[in-house]
Amino acid sequence: MKRAVVYYSLTGCTKKTAEAIAGKTGADLIRIDTVKEMPAGFKSRIMYGGMLATFGIKPKIKDLPCDLSSYDDIILGTPVWASTFAPALKTLFASVDISSKVTSVFTYSGSGDNGKCISKLSKILPNIKNTVSLLDEGKGPREENKALLESFLAKL
Ligand SMILES: Cc1cc2nc3c(=O)[nH]c(=O)nc-3n(C[C@H](O)[C@H](O)[C@H](O)COP(=O)(O)O)c2cc1C
Repeated sequence: MKRAVVYYSLTGCTKKTAEAIAGKTGADLIRIDTVKEMPAGFKSRIMYGGMLATFGIKPKIKDLPCDLSSYDDIILGTPVWASTFAPALKTLFASVDISSKVTSVFTYSGSGDNGKCISKLSKILPNIKNTVSLLDEGKGPREENKALLESFLAKL
């Protein structure tokens, strides 16, 4: 089975875990990134990123390194932005049909609540069976994440 971990990450939490999951599962690691860089300041990021997410705006993304439709199974990683998934992934879904391939989703958020985000993703990606909501680790590792991630990994 050909498997990939596909993720977007702005501040590195989702990236770090995507790398760990790819390392443990042997899946290919594919980063989704925007052409235009996000603003550097925290407030500008929240305002600009929140605006993109809230209004469903699709930022241009960099070319993918491969054809995602060639994968059998995709593990998707995203930060929660304005209670939904990262706008760059909205662009991805519009550019390649991976709707049936995504079976697992891991999210990072400040609140540790990905309910609305998963509900929105599930409408687009009907085969999601395994999800985990992890807490932002920008200020250091979170003990709570360890057991949650282990349980997620066990179901992959
Ligand atoms: C534009 C923006 C919007 C965000 N909106 C939310 C939100 O609605 N709820 C929440 O709990 N965290 C929110 N966050 C916090 C991120 O989800 C959190 O910092 C996450 O760990 C970042 O993952 P990353 O390091 O992979 O980018 C937001 C962050 C940004 C930049």
